[in-house]
Amino acid sequence: MGRESNGAITRVNLGVFRPYLVTRPEHVQHILRDNAANYRREGLMWKPLSRLVGEPSGADPVWPLKRRTFQTLLTGKKIETYTDEMAATIAANVDDLGRRADAGEPVDCSDELTRIVYRAILRIFIGDRLSLADADRLGEAITIATTSSFRSRMLLPFVPHAVPLPGDHAFHRAVQKVDDIIFPVIEKARREGAHERDDAGHDIVSLLLQARDEDGAALDDQGVRDGIVSIFVAGTETTVTALSWLWVVLAAHPEVMQRLSAEIRDVLGGAQPTRAHLPKLSYTKMVLQELLRIYSVGWITPRIVAEDDVIDGVRMRRGATVAVSPYLTHRVPDVWPDPLRFDPERFAPGRSRHRFAYLAFGAGPHQCVGSVFFTVEAQLIVASMISRLRPTLHGPVGVRPQIGLTLKPRQPIRISLNPINRG
Ligand code: HEM
Repeated sequence: MGRESNGAITRVNLGVFRPYLVTRPEHVQHILRDNAANYRREGLMWKPLSRLVGEPSGADPVWPLKRRTFQTLLTGKKIETYTDEMAATIAANVDDLGRRADAGEPVDCSDELTRIVYRAILRIFIGDRLSLADADRLGEAITIATTSSFRSRMLLPFVPHAVPLPGDHAFHRAVQKVDDIIFPVIEKARREGAHERDDAGHDIVSLLLQARDEDGAALDDQGVRDGIVSIFVAGTETTVTALSWLWVVLAAHPEVMQRLSAEIRDVLGGAQPTRAHLPKLSYTKMVLQELLRIYSVGWITPRIVAEDDVIDGVRMRRGATVAVSPYLTHRVPDVWPDPLRFDPERFAPGRSRHRFAYLAFGAGPHQCVGSVFFTVEAQLIVASMISRLRPTLHGPVGVRPQIGLTLKPRQPIRISLNPINRG
């Protein structure tokens, strides 16, 4: 529909639910930045998520404090302090995957990437506050919570929560499991005086316990728990989904795979990737940027109109939902010529475009806080996997996306992994 409307603002008629669809960069700029206060990040997909991650950020009075805390962890400078630790964790888990895949059986891409991404993010942000077994249990619980009833709740936003939908039970059980793992971690950290430590480093539990707003008020345990879970939900499924699509793209574009492998081989020379290698993995970064243009895993960033407004002659009614869709903006032909062609050269140095044409990480006051972290983590994972394992798509071919919290492959992606003998 976005393509048919050729970028014009369209009101989609879904019966009781009539969202505006907005795709042109200049319209998106108005909503996400210039008049952002009038377009609140709440409602639609955030509502079903609230039992898992807390109030949607546009409606949460303590969100600015949480967002500032995340930002201290995720600036380029801060990330540099823990990149090598993350690189070593990723390499160890990729080696472990290689040992298990040695038998030649293809593996489920999403399961394996979930393990690698969770262990990396937990190692960095929670350290030894969680055992490896609990870390894996937390990853499983969050995956169940974000997939069980979430899709039907998002597609049927007018169904009251009192009316049960399939998957609700699994959702509530998964959220309970998350609580059972996270609350004891917070209580223990408080007992140990984490809220007073002056060397919190990149420990998210200490940082959230220490956070203070302008009036000196701190987060309560629920706020700290919501902050921890938010960062895991926002930072893991997105990354896992994006990297699952990578093998689909590379199978369809052997010339890209060849250039990517050559860059990784030349830069690493057989070594384990470290922080020092990252600036030289420039083609790898371009491939990741183009991957997120075509497979925009954050495919929709919905907003609710606070007061009537007019954009380009179209009246936006108070209370309506506005669907800003990175997926569709990335396919507007006069913004992205030949939009369906996978071409990492679009991101070559020196190429420019409208600031709101590329929305993989959103824009404005709620822009993703984790975009730099994603790029670093994904470069490390891709370089580790391609230099050690030679991953090859095993199927299915031509898999299509399915909407949910993120834009996931409709069927599980399977890859075979042949360890490269680096002896
Ligand atoms: C492929 C990777 C990722 C993609 C595609 C992605 C995409 C997005 C998008 C589109 C938004 C804006 C949502 C909106 O405006 O409504 C967002 C917000 C956010 N992202 Fe990411 N993200 C990714 C990775 C990460 C990572 C690794 C982290 C943290 C470590 C993270 C943390 C967040 C948080 C906390 C927000 C909410 C910001 C707010 O409401 O103020 N994301 N992300």
